[in-house]
Amino acid sequence: MPRNIRGLTLGLTLLTSALPAIAFAQGLPPLEQKDSYRVGFAQTESNNPWRIAETQSMRDVADECGWELVYTDAAGSAAKQVADVNSMIAQGVDAIFLAPREETPLIPAVMNAKEAGIPVFLIDRNVNQSVAQAGEDYVTFIGSDFIDQGRRAAEWLVAETGGEATIIELEGTTGSSPANDRKKGFDDVIAEHPGMEIVASQSGDFSRDQGREVMATLLQAHPDVTAVYAHNDEMAIGAIAALEAAGRTPGEDVTIVSIDGTRDALQAIIDGKLGATVQSSPFFGPISCETMQRYAAGEEIEPWVKIEDMFFDASNAAEHIDEAY
Ligand code: AHR
Repeated sequence: MPRNIRGLTLGLTLLTSALPAIAFAQGLPPLEQKDSYRVGFAQTESNNPWRIAETQSMRDVADECGWELVYTDAAGSAAKQVADVNSMIAQGVDAIFLAPREETPLIPAVMNAKEAGIPVFLIDRNVNQSVAQAGEDYVTFIGSDFIDQGRRAAEWLVAETGGEATIIELEGTTGSSPANDRKKGFDDVIAEHPGMEIVASQSGDFSRDQGREVMATLLQAHPDVTAVYAHNDEMAIGAIAALEAAGRTPGEDVTIVSIDGTRDALQAIIDGKLGATVQSSPFFGPISCETMQRYAAGEEIEPWVKIEDMFFDASNAAEHIDEAY
């Protein structure tokens, strides 16, 4: 073979092999560039509008991304979600998008996929960072800054109450990254304000019914409550129902702040019952598709593909309610 042709061939070989080499160098399974993929999406549960919007967003991009989606719903069980991922591995999917219900119990699923040579993209929730790492055990975490969401909720509450409040905190699913981080962000800011006291903090599992039940119980022990911080809108709506059932007037004698930006929450802001909600976008389809394509093209993916979130209060809820879910 003439020297220049051989050089060209060698150059091309080096170029093409350099793409998966980036993944191999990081210890991650590579992903071939092709027109269609079998892609697993392991959802945690479908018990609230946020989850349903997230699933729909993944379905909406499937065709244009060339995904044949293998969808599972763990129905609120981390053990089932591990089994769901194992089943995707057994089916030989090309890649897995995982929204880990809790930070630690889903680690074996991440490791099993890595072992099987299947790249995992964490979306919306993260896993325990002291056990598994982006860029080594999974490709990346695509999601919001939950600590910052908690901080923004606290800063709004401090300003709204003039730094004086007796607060009940409704936490999300115990052991999940949004519950851990939203609590940290909020509690850290509140601790800097001597007039603000969190008198009770309990999980309502991100669910409207449990938010209502927990709020009703805590209200009996703390009838002097003047503010509620709920880790998501569904629990805030449940808390509003519990307060009203107890003869309180949410928005007047109790100031409520939460996180997500659902349609019901924006309506509650318009109705004057909910003070504000920090957005946590559930629309993961487009960014998941783009990130997977970048990875397949051999790009080194940043460990955290961060989603920027808006903030909704009485000044803009009406303007955004039509695009809410
Ligand atoms: O992980 C994001 C959280 O999970 C959302 O705030 C909540 O509504 C959902 O269940």
